[in-house]
Amino acid sequence: MLDKTKRGWWKSAVFYQIYPKSFQDSDGDGLGDIPGIISRLDYLETLGIDGIWLSPVYASPQADNGYDISDYQAVWPPFGAMADMERLIAEAKKRGISIIMDLVLNHSSDEHPWFREALKGRDNPCHDYYIWRDGTPDTPPNDLPANFGGSAWEYVPALGQWYYHQFAVKQPDLNWSNPRLRRALYDMIRFWVDKGVEGFRLDVIDNIGKEPDRKITARGPKLHEYVRELSREAFREEGLVTVGEAWSADVEEGRLYSDPSGRELSMVFQFEHNFADCGGWKWDLAPLDLPKLKRCMERWQKGLYGQGWNSLFWDNHDLPRIVSRWGDDGRYRVQSAKMLAAALHGMQGTPYIYQGEELGMTNIRLPIGEYEDIETQNAYRERLEQGYSEEDVMASIYARSRDNARTPMQWSAEKNAGFTTGTPWFVVNPNYTEINAEAALADPDSIFWFYRKLIALRKEYPVFRDGDFTLLDPDSERVFAYTRETADEGLLVVCNFTGEALPYPLPAGFEGAGPLISNYPAPESGVLRPYECFMLHRSGRR
Ligand code: GLC
Repeated sequence: MLDKTKRGWWKSAVFYQIYPKSFQDSDGDGLGDIPGIISRLDYLETLGIDGIWLSPVYASPQADNGYDISDYQAVWPPFGAMADMERLIAEAKKRGISIIMDLVLNHSSDEHPWFREALKGRDNPCHDYYIWRDGTPDTPPNDLPANFGGSAWEYVPALGQWYYHQFAVKQPDLNWSNPRLRRALYDMIRFWVDKGVEGFRLDVIDNIGKEPDRKITARGPKLHEYVRELSREAFREEGLVTVGEAWSADVEEGRLYSDPSGRELSMVFQFEHNFADCGGWKWDLAPLDLPKLKRCMERWQKGLYGQGWNSLFWDNHDLPRIVSRWGDDGRYRVQSAKMLAAALHGMQGTPYIYQGEELGMTNIRLPIGEYEDIETQNAYRERLEQGYSEEDVMASIYARSRDNARTPMQWSAEKNAGFTTGTPWFVVNPNYTEINAEAALADPDSIFWFYRKLIALRKEYPVFRDGDFTLLDPDSERVFAYTRETADEGLLVVCNFTGEALPYPLPAGFEGAGPLISNYPAPESGVLRPYECFMLHRSGRR
């Protein structure tokens, strides 16, 4: 077990993300809940993870599945009561698992009492907690778009004012230039620290310093000043882990967020690698450009080395399933899921496993009416309006909809995958009869046990945490290979990103090095089989 009183414990940790609505239902209402999570802690302990990033469980009208919070200090009743949350924190801690809560500080729900007060009039003390501009009903203050479609401005006739919302209309942005608002947020955070929460994931933190009049939405001029104040005022404990979600971060920004002096956050959670198969924005599909992906990884590995700390992830609740995306979710599902895991877990940073990734869960394809996600529904409408064909739009949705990641967790081959005894809130992927946790636990060659081994390796060999990074053969469109080195150890990671066998001579310096892990039973000299991966370890410098 990691000593979590030590600063930087999270550098040796592996985290697991739970999307509560889809994890485990305990009472048959078709929605996952906190008692359901508690009932699966033993499973997570078996996997070997050190912490759970819990997507929002707060009171919420669920316009964006809980990322629209109406009370930060209450639990959404279908998820359970505060006592359940307290039990989850305690039960997880017993198993060496920290609870890391999701903090949505950029916006609240329009049903939050602050916003309800704000609507009462310009003189109300809460009015300035949000971002308002005077105007007339037909002319928004400017043409800034909302991330979920339409204008970022919404008119309130009774006030003769527009409010700003970077996401849905029901997610008004909080005004971080108001010190009373900031204080209220810090007090709320302390409430959770006092309950025993050991860390926080900060939702779209790069948006808090926005200046909408200048059309600056992310990376505003006061962003880092705010993050530093937040860190000073709310994250005083040495052991707290803080993770900043920042879609806009480049390496330089990443260094600011995760500067080892600790004045901002423990680590950055950035998405640059996520655009290695995008023509422009997420809906513009392009084949994976492996050299681009590798260069991006290299830039971050080198750029933060000794100067910051990164998160390592392929999947989360906003992204499609990695095995369907960059692997092969048909014939080579098991091999490619393991290969992708190895490619990621060999790097420096803190790995995140998204629920079901450890089973190789896959994307889904549904008729448009069955998608639940607000972003997906809005994108469907807008892309059609922009002139894309129905076929194109649906191809983008199949590949990229956030709902790919939100189907219920597949626990067993029982009805509804063992997720619920009721009617699931969202479709269960029909492949649950084959892909499920029970089957994975029973099969020593499963993806689950491969992940468990990767997690254990990270704890056993300091090179995973400390080694420097050298990318091998950067231009190869088929193989992702790299080394990690410290004064005492060397690690070689080799991953075939294709479904074909390739000739592969072992790089110099690793002849005779010991095998750590592989997705094929025995090595075959000079050849990489379809989606093959392996790691070799050597003591001592080359
Ligand atoms: C983050 C969340 C996403 C949410 C958005 C608005 O990107 O991960 O799910 O919709 O912020 O809160």
